[in-house]
Amino acid sequence: MSDQQVFDVPASSAARALVNAAQYDAMYKKSVEDNAGFWGEQGRRVDWIKPYTQVKDVDYTGAVRIRWYHDGTLNVAANCIDRHLAKRAKQTAIIWEGDDPSESKHITYGELAEHVGRMSNVLKAKGVKKGDRVTIYMPMIPEAAYAMLACARIGAVHSVVFGGFSPDSLAGRIVDCDSRVVITADEGLRGGKKVPLKANVDAALKQCPDVSACIVVKRTGGNVEMKSGRDVWYHEEAAKVSPDCPAEAMNAEDPLFILYTSGSTGKPKGVLHTSGGYLVYASFTHQYVFDYHEGDIYWCTADVGWVTGHSYIVYGPLANGATTLMFEGVPNYPDSSRFWQVCDKHKVNIFYTAPTAIRALMREGEAPVQKCKLDSLRLLGSVGEPINPEAWLWYHRVIGKNRCPIVDTWWQTETGGILISPLPGATKTKPGSATKPLPGVMPQIVDANGNVLEGACEGNLCIADSWPGQMRTVYGDHKRFAETYFSAYPGKYFTGDGCRRDADGYYWITGRVDDVINVSGHRMGTAEVESALVAHPQVAEAAVVGYPHDIKGQGIYAYVTLKTGVTATEELRKELVLWVRKEIGPIAAPDLIQWAPGLPKTRSGKIMRRILRKIAENEYGALGDTSTLADPNVVTDLVDNRMNR
Ligand code: WT7
Repeated sequence: MSDQQVFDVPASSAARALVNAAQYDAMYKKSVEDNAGFWGEQGRRVDWIKPYTQVKDVDYTGAVRIRWYHDGTLNVAANCIDRHLAKRAKQTAIIWEGDDPSESKHITYGELAEHVGRMSNVLKAKGVKKGDRVTIYMPMIPEAAYAMLACARIGAVHSVVFGGFSPDSLAGRIVDCDSRVVITADEGLRGGKKVPLKANVDAALKQCPDVSACIVVKRTGGNVEMKSGRDVWYHEEAAKVSPDCPAEAMNAEDPLFILYTSGSTGKPKGVLHTSGGYLVYASFTHQYVFDYHEGDIYWCTADVGWVTGHSYIVYGPLANGATTLMFEGVPNYPDSSRFWQVCDKHKVNIFYTAPTAIRALMREGEAPVQKCKLDSLRLLGSVGEPINPEAWLWYHRVIGKNRCPIVDTWWQTETGGILISPLPGATKTKPGSATKPLPGVMPQIVDANGNVLEGACEGNLCIADSWPGQMRTVYGDHKRFAETYFSAYPGKYFTGDGCRRDADGYYWITGRVDDVINVSGHRMGTAEVESALVAHPQVAEAAVVGYPHDIKGQGIYAYVTLKTGVTATEELRKELVLWVRKEIGPIAAPDLIQWAPGLPKTRSGKIMRRILRKIAENEYGALGDTSTLADPNVVTDLVDNRMNR
């Protein structure tokens, strides 16, 4: 696929767009020349209780300090709800589409205010105060959004844990941020299958003695155990409290949420986002990248357990007074036309999903799409991993009918919002490229020695200066924050991604350059999967790498050395896959396990992952220099016994 295939901005997009090409250039120029001035103006898109006089206070060196709007106060929930009520009390805020196609409902801004008010008062009744952490482990039901907004309203810090994580993973995250209150549901429902959320919480809480309350939303009515003195039904508590709850005045730099994400080493880290800058950035990017206009129906298919759900299902759209669709189900239930049926049913204008979903649906052919009209769609988005040109072109032709621009949005949990993306009325697109930085974003590509490369080049992607949505710290470990992101290339934020820039100044993300893999748009640390594997009593050692996977983008390839005397059987292989599912969650389950009598190590005992990656990628002809290996024969065995896919 040549880089030269270029799609013009469709005339219809250009005509209605908030920003055209010339305006983008002017905005970008201003944002670089007067960064604080630019963000100072953008900051006024939200309502402040006490307006800021300071815009930016950032130092990427030394201990690293990042503050935006730091003398202002505001409340994020009031910005997402209260300030819209005069005009939008009767407008739909959330369209909820259930797992079962016969179930859906509309929640107006007026109703949202009451639901969030009640949830806020229930949390207060459970003793939650400003600054306390609350863990949310929920299915994709409106109460998940109410819970997040209720925390924001009373100044509590939420930590949403994706409902696909295991009890152990959940427990680790509860303990790390010392949550005393957990909000969950009896069961989730996905693709017609029940997810035992409350039972998982019960198992997790055995390891969390400090949790004093578990608030349970009734979703399926399935049987659950309620521990007296600790567990309460949300609907019973909600009936006892008022729907009115004053919004706490929060400093711009007070924490809004923690979201755990995988790194290349150690336990998942708690990415901390604060209130003012995050909200400004979520609102700004949601409006410009999706060219959001009054009355648009907007659908992001992510789960609120990931940052995409935080910024682009809840905070960005609601800050902008939009109608945001929340989908409980999966793309292929009851059949693989579900996404498109939902688009028709709710007249969706803006549709934002992940390449892995597009590839999976593409495999089903065009028939499931042809059943639907898709005539309401105006704009398509992609997020989470590089989108291969073939999937991009299919998305453009079959879903967008050659009419809808595609915004391939590059960003990270750490960035809080989109950093590199086309603007639909301004940017010509190239399939597979996230195109250009948004105003206020200053990417740099550096070589291994930290030299900044100019023009067309390839290297490691850094961002030279801050933007308001940037994470502020790793919860409880500021040193790890500075080391992880600011030590490799002093004075810059290092993203962990490799990137190429072409002669037109377009950015092409090439994937992670660290030991993080991206499975179906979900981030996994290879070290986490390895430690789950070695926790199995029959495993001596394990090394995990990514390999190209047709649907998932990357699959998980595990090399496992068994303890002496243990026989390698198909049964054990299956057991290890189940073991990792249980230890971390289904998203971490290895796709392939190869028995490895030994792992390639240097004489000092360091595993040479480069070699393992090559074998997993089927590029064992080009293993490079193996002369520093303690035992080169190990490699021959691994190549001979590599797994087929
Ligand atoms: C990593 C961040 C962005 C929210 C969801 C994932 C990869 C993300 C793209 C894209 C190429 C992408 C990067 C990044 N990534 N979007 N449009 N093109 N790669 O957030 O779990 O924090 O993962 O996802 O490798 O570093 P995350």
